[in-house]
Amino acid sequence: PTPAPVRCMCWTLRSYILSYIILFLSCTYCHTYLSPPSLSGSVPDIAVHFGTKTRYEDVVRPGLNLSSAAAGCSPVHLTAVIRHGTRFPTVKNIRRIERLSRLVQSQAPRGHGAPSWLREIQEQWQQWYTEDMDGRLVEKGRADLRNLAMRLFSSFPGLLSEAGLRGGGITVKTSSKHRCVSSAEAFQEGLHQTTGTQTVVDDSLMRSFERCRGYVEGVETNATATEEVDRFKHGPELRQVRARFSTFLSFVVADLVEAAFFICSYELAIKSLYSPWCRLFTKEDAKVPTDPSLVSSVSPRLVPLQSSFCPRFVLGKSCFSPRFVFVSSSVSPASVLV
Ligand SMILES: *[C@@H]1O[C@H](CO)[C@@H](O)[C@H](O)[C@H]1NC(C)=O
Ligand SMILES: *[C@@H]1O[C@H](CO)[C@@H](O)[C@H](O)[C@H]1NC(C)=O
Repeated sequence: PTPAPVRCMCWTLRSYILSYIILFLSCTYCHTYLSPPSLSGSVPDIAVHFGTKTRYEDVVRPGLNLSSAAAGCSPVHLTAVIRHGTRFPTVKNIRRIERLSRLVQSQAPRGHGAPSWLREIQEQWQQWYTEDMDGRLVEKGRADLRNLAMRLFSSFPGLLSEAGLRGGGITVKTSSKHRCVSSAEAFQEGLHQTTGTQTVVDDSLMRSFERCRGYVEGVETNATATEEVDRFKHGPELRQVRARFSTFLSFVVADLVEAAFFICSYELAIKSLYSPWCRLFTKEDAKVPTDPSLVSSVSPRLVPLQSSFCPRFVLGKSCFSPRFVFVSSSVSPASVLV
């Protein structure tokens, strides 16, 4: 089998989107930093480790004015790199979820001896993911992007003003992935820009890693590039998490542990539900997902492995997946790359 591409060294992602937007503001000396989300209410405590699956609403700071955060600066140009909104799992993970769900239904112990969360999964939880959902943007994901556009607009009314838009000052670029194109459209809706600006699909820029020889040969098609990931999957951190699973399932591969973690994060992100699957993980466990994104903290060598090739591109794919970027051009007051 072909190894999964090494995707990422950052497990922070969506939670830091706002920070990245600020980083990309081309306004002299403007720089600030936003801390990770602080979550409350009926949100699993492991949600702070959801990384790219973190809900937008958990990192939004109401009333935050990105423009005035940069005191003394007068923005002349806006560049933002934005990830797509909330979406369904991809088909690969939907199949894993299906497999895990069948295993739990057919093999896990039932009745009063079983822990309450297990009974809840068996008796109340429905496997509702279907393969056609395959990574598509959910309706809430559209709202994520519309709201983000509105927040940006209220922070930079001058830059993103109608006049600016009419003058063709905004460029929107996206990768061809459907969830990214949908995100781009929703973003423009948020700017009240149904006409005027077109969304430009530009894979040579937005999926540039695909054409980066260093990445393709060094990682994507390199059978040994992910060996540290494989070691991690069989390492002590994950063994501990799998041991918990073994109390109710005789055998669980690392991919299915990850699937359970994903169910927890997707159900919170898509449905705002505290899924019973979340209760399989302690807070310590949640720091150890099987996704390569976390592996860097365990295997630091993965970081140079990725970033030494085409740093900009690989950073793009791995760190915050800028399928959705606002980008500058020297003549435009504000431009958007999606
Ligand atoms: C944010 O700050 C900018 C610049 O100071 C200002 O023009 C804009 O009106 C502010 N937006 C809000 C919503 O306060
Ligand atoms: C494949 O990955 C291994 C392990 O990271 C690395 O040492 C090797 O140089 C890579 N091969 C190519 C062709 O880049």
